[in-house]
Amino acid sequence: MTVNTTVTVRVPAKVNLQLAVGPGREDGFHDLVNVFHAVSLFDEVTVKEASPRRSAPLTTLTAEGEMGSHLARVPLDESNLAAKAALAVAEASGLGAPVDIHLDKRIPVAGGMAGGSADAAAALVACDRLWGAGLSRERLLEAAADLGSDVAFGLVGATALGTGRGEILEPMSSPGRYRWVFALSKRGLSTADVFREYDRLRPDAPAPRLDPELEKALATRDAEALGRALSNDLQPAALSLLPELERTLAAGSAAGALGALVSGSGPTCAFLVGGGEDPLVLAEREAEVVAALNGTGLCERVVAADGDVPGAMVV
Ligand code: C5P
Repeated sequence: MTVNTTVTVRVPAKVNLQLAVGPGREDGFHDLVNVFHAVSLFDEVTVKEASPRRSAPLTTLTAEGEMGSHLARVPLDESNLAAKAALAVAEASGLGAPVDIHLDKRIPVAGGMAGGSADAAAALVACDRLWGAGLSRERLLEAAADLGSDVAFGLVGATALGTGRGEILEPMSSPGRYRWVFALSKRGLSTADVFREYDRLRPDAPAPRLDPELEKALATRDAEALGRALSNDLQPAALSLLPELERTLAAGSAAGALGALVSGSGPTCAFLVGGGEDPLVLAEREAEVVAALNGTGLCERVVAADGDVPGAMVV
C-alpha cells in the first residue's frame, strides 16, 4: 500500500441563493432555510506529515493567497477551523500525528462565502486520507456539523438545502449552470455581528421557509427567474454595518446583472450574470458587470466563477 505523506484537497466557496433566518434560538443560533450553491472559487488545503522529531503541537498553519488584506485576517493558530478539523479527525479515529497545514486561499476571508468552513471541510478529508482513518461519510458530516454551520456543505458541494442552523443538508435539484461575479470587499464582517444586527433589526422574525419560486427557477434552469428569486434576510443587517455595499449592489444591477445580493453574512456581493445563454452574450454582460464594479473603487477585487461545482475533493 502507498503511504501518502502529503495530501491536497480542493474545496469550493459557497453563495446563498436564499438565506431565510428565523428568530434567535436558546443556543444562540438561528434556524435557517439556507440554499447553498458551490461556485468555482477554490481554496487548496495541503496537509503534510510534520518532521518526525516533532511530537507536538498536532498542527502548524501557513497561508498564501493573492488577496493582501484578506490573508492578514486568517488566524494561524489552533483557533483556525482547519486546525480544529484535524483535531476532530484525530479524536474520531484514534489516529493522528503532527501535521503542517498549508492554506492556499482564493476564497475571500470573513467574506460570507464560507472560506474558513471550506478549509475545515478540506482538512477533514485531507487528514482522514493522510492518516488512513477511513472515517465514513456520515462520521465526517457529523464532525463537520460540530465544527460550524457551513462546514458540512463544504463536503457536499453542488446545490443543497440547509436547515437547522444550516448543518442539516439535503441535495436540491439544480441541473443548470450559472455564471457569477463576486465583488470582494476591502473589509471583513463577523458572522456573529451580522446575526446580532439582524436580531436588532428584526426582533419579530417569522419561521424561515423555502421560496417555491427559487425551487422552480432552479429546477427549470431559468436564470432570469433565479435572478429575481435570490434573497438574503441578512442583507439589511450587513448593509446597516457596511452601508457602502448598497452602492456596490446598485452598480452591478445597473450594469445588467440578473440578480444581486450580499453573500451570506457578507460583505462579499454576488451578481448572477446568467446561465444557458449564448456564450458571447454572457461574456459581454460579465465584462460590463466587472467593469462597473471595478469603477466603484469600493472593491478589493472582482472575480467571476461558475456554479454549481462539487464539494471537497482530493487532487
Ligand atoms: O456556526 P458558525 O461558527 O459558522 O457560526 C458563527 C456565528 O454566527 C455563531 O456564533 C452565531 O452567532 C451566528 N449564527 C447564528 N445562526 C446560525 C449560524 C450562525 O446565529 N444558524
